[in-house]
This record gives sequence, structure tokens and C-alpha cells, in this order.
Amino acid sequence: MKYSINYLSLNNKDLVVNETIFHNANGYIGIRNNFEEAYPSGYNTVRGSYINAFYDFAEMKQAENFYGLANEKQTMLNVADTQGVKLFLGDEQFNLWKGSIISAKRTLDMDCGFTERYIVWRSPMGKEVEIIIRRLTSFVRLPLFLIDYSVKALNFSDNLYFVSVHLGAVMNHANPDDPRLAAESARYIIPGKVHVEETASFITSSTSKSGLKLCTGVDHVIMSGGHFECNSFAEKESAWTEIKIGIKEGEKAGFCKYSVFTDSLRYADCEKSASEELAKAVATGPLEIYREQKEYLDKFWDNAFLKIEGNERLNMALNYNMYQLLQSAGKESKSSVGAKGLSGEGYEGHYFWDTEMYIEPFFNLTVPEISKNLVSFRYSILDEARKNARLLGHKQGALFSWRTIMGKESSGFFPAGSAQYHISGDIAWSIVSYYFASGDYGFIVEKGAEMIFEIARLWIDAGTWYKGQFCIHCVTGPDEYTCMVNNNYYTNLSAKFSLYWAVRFYSLLKDSGDIEALAERIKLCPEELEEFSRAEKAVYLPYDENQKLNPQDDSFLSKKKWDLSATPKEKFPLLLHYHPLHLYRYQVCKQADTVLAHFIFEDAQSEETIRNSFLYYEGITTHDSSLSACIFSIVASKLKLYEKAYKYFGNSAMLDLYDLHNNTKDGIHTANMGGAWMAIVYGFAGLRIKEDGISLAPWIPQKWESLCFRINYRGSRIQLKIEKSRVTIVLLNGAEKEIKVYGKPYTLKDRLEIPVNYSEPA
Ligand code: BGC
Repeated sequence: MKYSINYLSLNNKDLVVNETIFHNANGYIGIRNNFEEAYPSGYNTVRGSYINAFYDFAEMKQAENFYGLANEKQTMLNVADTQGVKLFLGDEQFNLWKGSIISAKRTLDMDCGFTERYIVWRSPMGKEVEIIIRRLTSFVRLPLFLIDYSVKALNFSDNLYFVSVHLGAVMNHANPDDPRLAAESARYIIPGKVHVEETASFITSSTSKSGLKLCTGVDHVIMSGGHFECNSFAEKESAWTEIKIGIKEGEKAGFCKYSVFTDSLRYADCEKSASEELAKAVATGPLEIYREQKEYLDKFWDNAFLKIEGNERLNMALNYNMYQLLQSAGKESKSSVGAKGLSGEGYEGHYFWDTEMYIEPFFNLTVPEISKNLVSFRYSILDEARKNARLLGHKQGALFSWRTIMGKESSGFFPAGSAQYHISGDIAWSIVSYYFASGDYGFIVEKGAEMIFEIARLWIDAGTWYKGQFCIHCVTGPDEYTCMVNNNYYTNLSAKFSLYWAVRFYSLLKDSGDIEALAERIKLCPEELEEFSRAEKAVYLPYDENQKLNPQDDSFLSKKKWDLSATPKEKFPLLLHYHPLHLYRYQVCKQADTVLAHFIFEDAQSEETIRNSFLYYEGITTHDSSLSACIFSIVASKLKLYEKAYKYFGNSAMLDLYDLHNNTKDGIHTANMGGAWMAIVYGFAGLRIKEDGISLAPWIPQKWESLCFRINYRGSRIQLKIEKSRVTIVLLNGAEKEIKVYGKPYTLKDRLEIPVNYSEPA
């Protein structure tokens, strides 16, 4: 599939958004799609190249420095810029703002894994060229970023001159007026050594505080044209390469610019690795690099296939989102998925609960190995989570930081940060979800159970017994417009879930003879298990008898209701226009909170309660967070509120491609992208995977012809096609599976055809 746009306008706002939309990433490196030749001075741009989990410590001054507040945060770094290429046709410089653009198109080819900029341009002196610039970050060779630059002379013969730049002195971007961005920037990464070797250059840089190193290597290979020269030069903090190629009218000239990024987190000797990776890539050549990229993606799309017939815009948006998730997710257990992936600096490259609740569900069922890496990443920071719990006064257990890269807390505003204890419950949920979808018991023995036991210990320490019930006070649920409350419904349920699974895994491991070593190592004794069990059964869940719904927390329903219909459009998102304390005193939600609980822990309440809650919270939710609409869509599907389900889904699916939140310039919204996929799979198809197996309750919007997608469930690949009147389920390969459809059990051996059965509620 290809996503293309024409961009004759050169409007600055669109250009910055398109830097995000067309960025190239592979889970390790991410490069924004800036013009190689740059924009004219005065134009806004976020020119950036990022490495997942590559960070520095940045000062985070607390005006009133209370005990335990974070004074330092991690920040993902904008690293060496290898994008720069200036082109001269004889002595005229290629510049889209001069001369005239005859044709200009940008394309993301999601089957082949590259972006392309196609331009036909006439210079002020009348020279016409067709330029094709392809860019690729390889899924197969993670350090590699390739620019394949080709020029055709349409009406002249001359020399082409290219100046290819490798810049070591770069800074992060900042915006002091938006709390979702860094407020200040500094020089975090300092180039130490620059050298050239014929057509190649290398820059080794170090971070200012975190002790990390990065080597970037850049080389050039002339691919077409007449006689040529190519020489590299070094300065103190940068290098450049000058290329001269003769070109004749009607012919092409071009070169490949290979860049590699090797950091000390992954490479023991990053300079040696840069030189080796670069040499390997150059020796392989672009044709083979394109071929292996396509082969990787063929496999991905075969597993992740999804097609909506009847609405091409939504079909495109969904496939775009899935591709972005693949681009964003760390491909080893040293990294996770940033809230903006590797597409921009919003949220500074931090990992939140987004990964566990919104992104892993997609990978669990399409590329489970990626989910396994993501959960393993959390295991790698378990010790930091233990330390964080101690810092916050807990005698035992693990509390994962709300936003982080290497494990330490990076949130400077604890009411909507560290107080979100649910992140630990979310991690427990993700471990169990991975286990349900994959059946990977080995992972539970190796890492999963230990994390869940530590999370259960945290809940025991954080909770308190009151009138025979187990309560959790002073936490913030997912809704960041309501902070520091007692008994947040979502948090309490997620604690209950963690405690239940701690007990369950203990007995599973015990039955298989796998518990002893672990119990010994973390000093887990049977009395603790009894305590988990007692608390789990007694977790208090707020319920309002009058309205027959779950209050978000103990005090929520006693607050004034915010009148959303009377709030002017320009006052959204509320967080940019109202003091937090003002928001906290109202019943107003930034995002799904109790409604999310009704999806994740749906068996805790009757359908009637869920319906009452849904309708209630719908009236006071702004969806200022992009993590919200998709969840409302899923629960609307469950409640057979089909029109609403469709509307919420549309808002979620198209958010980045159409910049619906007006901040795609800062990066994509990865959690929402996973959420839109969930709205299809858990919403429209009604998929659930629970302890007792897999079930479906499909429907499709009337406007669609069909919806078809594939999942991987415990080693079997299953394709589901929902048409207006029937559902066809095909076992593509793997062992047969028991599956419930609309509550009725079937054995999926080869293919099932079942009439679609849905109707609007009365
Ligand atoms: C949301 C959080 C989310 C974060 C990063 C915030 O706006 O309220 O739930 O984790 O963005 O995506």
C-alpha cells in the first residue's frame, strides 16, 4: 500500500506535519522527513534523528524541592544529522522556493518500506530536472539509514555538484508553552572525534551526563552519471563530502548516501561497529537492501493483514497506523515504544503505560516476538521500579515510573505523573495478555511471574484495610483531569487483577515444579500469597446505587459537573487553558478511565452498569488525550451503540494522517494508533482472549462492504472476514482451535461460516 500527497504549496505548517507523517524509522533509529536541502531561513522545522532509548540526563528543577521529587529527567536525544544534501545544477542551487515546481509528490510505500520525494523542477535559468529521493531505515540492518538520490537532466547537459553533510553539533527542540514538550534545550551530545576516510566520514559523540556514546558513519557511492569526483572533509564537529558528476541531457546521475548509527547501549565498541556496519551496507548495495526490506515487510503484512472494503480513507489510515507501530517498536529488550515513537520530540522519547495497554495488544496478535521484547524491557528495569517504590516510601514491591527511558522517574509533575500507580497494574495486565495470546509459559517462569509478584507486593503495601475492604488511597487514575484520589475504580481493579494473577501464577509454577528457585531468590513465602488472596477478594470497587454506575473514585460524583457544551472550542485541550487545580474540582475527564476499566475488566460489572457508566462519562469526557476515543469506540461496540462506535473509531483512526489534534508536528500518537486497531479487533470483531480461550462477537458498520484481518493466536494464524450477512473464519495454518462466536462454541479446523448476528439495542 502507498500513501501519497502532492505538496505544491510549501506551506510551513504542512511541511512540519509531513516531517512526522513521512518519517523513516525501524524501532532503533528514526529520522524525520526533513528536506535534504533544508527550508529557507525563518521557516520552522523540527529537524531530527533519534535513537530509541538513547538519552541524556537533563536537569528538572523543582521550585520547591520536597523529598523524593525527581530533579533530573531522561531525554531522548536529537543525534547527528546525516540528512543534509545540497544540489547544484552547474552553478544554480536546487531550491524549491525559487524557479518553479512542475510536479511534487511525497510517498510512503508501506510494502517496500521506503519514502520517496518526487520533484520536477525548473530553475530560474530554465534548467529542468526530475529528482527522485528515496529514504529507508532498514528493518533488517537496524543501524542503517539510506538516502538514494537520483537526478535526471531534462533539457541540459552540465556538471551536478552535491554537498553531503554530516553534522555532529545538534540540539533538541523545545517549546516552553506546551507541557507535552521539553521546556528548554541544551547541548546534550558533544562530538569528540571527527575523521574522514576517502568518501566516508565518522563522528563519535558522547552525552553530557549519562555516559553514553554514539558513532555515526556516512559513506557515498556514485550510482549513475558520467565522470565523477568524490572527496570528504572534516571540521571540528562536522564533516562533509563534495561530489561532482557529469550529466547529459535525458540521462540520470545519482548516488547513495549510507548512514549508520551505533550506540554504546547496544554495541560494545561503537566506532568499530560503525565502520563494519557501514562497510557491510556499502558492499550489499541498494538493490539487495530494498529486496530484504520488502521481504521483511511481506512477512509483516502477511501476519498483520487488515483490509476495510467500503472506505478507502479509513483503510489507508489503519494500515498507515500499523506500519507506524512497526516503525516505532523497539526490536530488542533494551527499548520500548515512545509515546511518539521515533518520529518527534513530543514527550521526550519517554515510555508510558501506552506501550502495555495500547500497543502490545497489536503485537501480541501479529508479531508476538515484539511483545515479548517489550515486556522483557520492563523486566530489565524491574530493579529501578523496586528502588522507585522505596523512594515513595513502600517497604516492598515494584512501582514502575510513570514516564521513563532507563527506569528512573522522568515526570516532573507528580499528581499526574508518579501518582499514576496503575502503570504497575497495566504492566501486570500486559504480561498476562501476552501469556494468553502466546501461551509462552517459559517467559512467565523466567521473567513474568517475578514482575507480577513484585507488583502484588506493591499493592499490599500501598493499600489499606478499612471496614473489611481493601482500599487504595491517594493515587491518580488514567484520567489526568482528576488527580490524587481515593479508590480510583480503574486502579483498584487493576490491583485486584495483579493480586489474582500473582496467586494464579504461584500455583501454576508450583504445580510445574518451577517456583522454588524464584521464591527463594525474591524471598516470597506462602503467607504472602495468603495475603495477596485475602486482599484480592476484598478490593473495594466504588459503586453508586442511585445511578447504578461506577464512580471514577470516592469523591468524583460529589464534584460540580463541567459544562462541555458551554466551553468555547478554542479552550481545548483544557490542560493548556485551565489551572490543574481548577480542573480537579470538576467532574471532567481528559480520557477514558472508568470506561477503560469496563473494557479491560469487563467481567467485573453487569452490562447494565457498563451502559450507565458509558453514557455518564461520555457527557463529561473531552478526549483531550488521544488515548480516549478508541476506548469509547470499543465499549460502544460492546454495548451495541454502533453509530457511536463508528464515530469514535473514525476520530481515532485518522488522528495523525489528518492532524486532528493539531500536534502531529511533534510526532505520531503511537498509543492511539494501537487503539484504533483495537477498536477494530476488540470493538467491531468483539474479540476477547481470556483464561478460558478466545471469543468473537462481530459486526461491521453499514457503510462498509467487509472487514478482513488476521491474528496469530497461540501459534495458529486465523483470518476473519466480516461481511454484512456472514462471518468467515479461516485457519490459515497451525493447530485447530476452540473458539466462541456470539457465545456459541465451535472448533476451528479449517473454515467456519456463521451468519452475522447483531442488532441495535431497543
Ligand atoms: C495521557 C497519558 C499518556 C500520555 C502519553 C497523556 O496526554 O493523558 O495517558 O500516557 O499522554 O501518550
